[in-house]
Amino acid sequence: MSDIFTELETDHQVVLRLVQQLHTPGLAPDARDRIVQRLVMEESKHEAAEEMWFWPAVRELLSNGEGLRNAGLDQEEEAKALLQQLMEAPAASLEVDRLLGELLPAVRAHVDYEQARVWPALRSALPPATAHKLGARYRSSYQNGPTRPHPRTPADPAVLKVAGRAAAAVDRARDALTRRGVS
Ligand SMILES: [Fe+2]
Ligand SMILES: [Fe+2]
Repeated sequence: MSDIFTELETDHQVVLRLVQQLHTPGLAPDARDRIVQRLVMEESKHEAAEEMWFWPAVRELLSNGEGLRNAGLDQEEEAKALLQQLMEAPAASLEVDRLLGELLPAVRAHVDYEQARVWPALRSALPPATAHKLGARYRSSYQNGPTRPHPRTPADPAVLKVAGRAAAAVDRARDALTRRGVS
């Protein structure tokens, strides 16, 4: 089992690869829609699981953790709002172009913020056994997490663990009905 940084990095790589694919010149509209859908699902699960395990550790263990966490959560809220709008925008529309134009740099900047600004301090503060335990918890929450962005869900980990589970169950039922994510 990997520690939380390895688990987070794996998912950051997936998200960044999807972002990269969206920049492929001449990408067909239906291929792009599939990538956008996958990005929405990956981002939704990743940020929800981070809000349960990563940010609470940052807040508790780092002296400036509260500020680091709040700035990170603001970035995640902004990304979730953009993802929500992307899901609602007509496929292959100018609106989708505009939203992607905002989302892609925001996602890159957010990953960079976490990895460069927050991880080094948390790495020094987390005992290895705790980092591994958090890695397992993060992965389990990710696997059972919501597949849609749910902006405005409070980022309180206790609330998320209940509300997030309910939202995830509803998302999965909707995914099954629409065969979303099945390609
Ligand atoms: Fe994040
Ligand atoms: Fe992240």
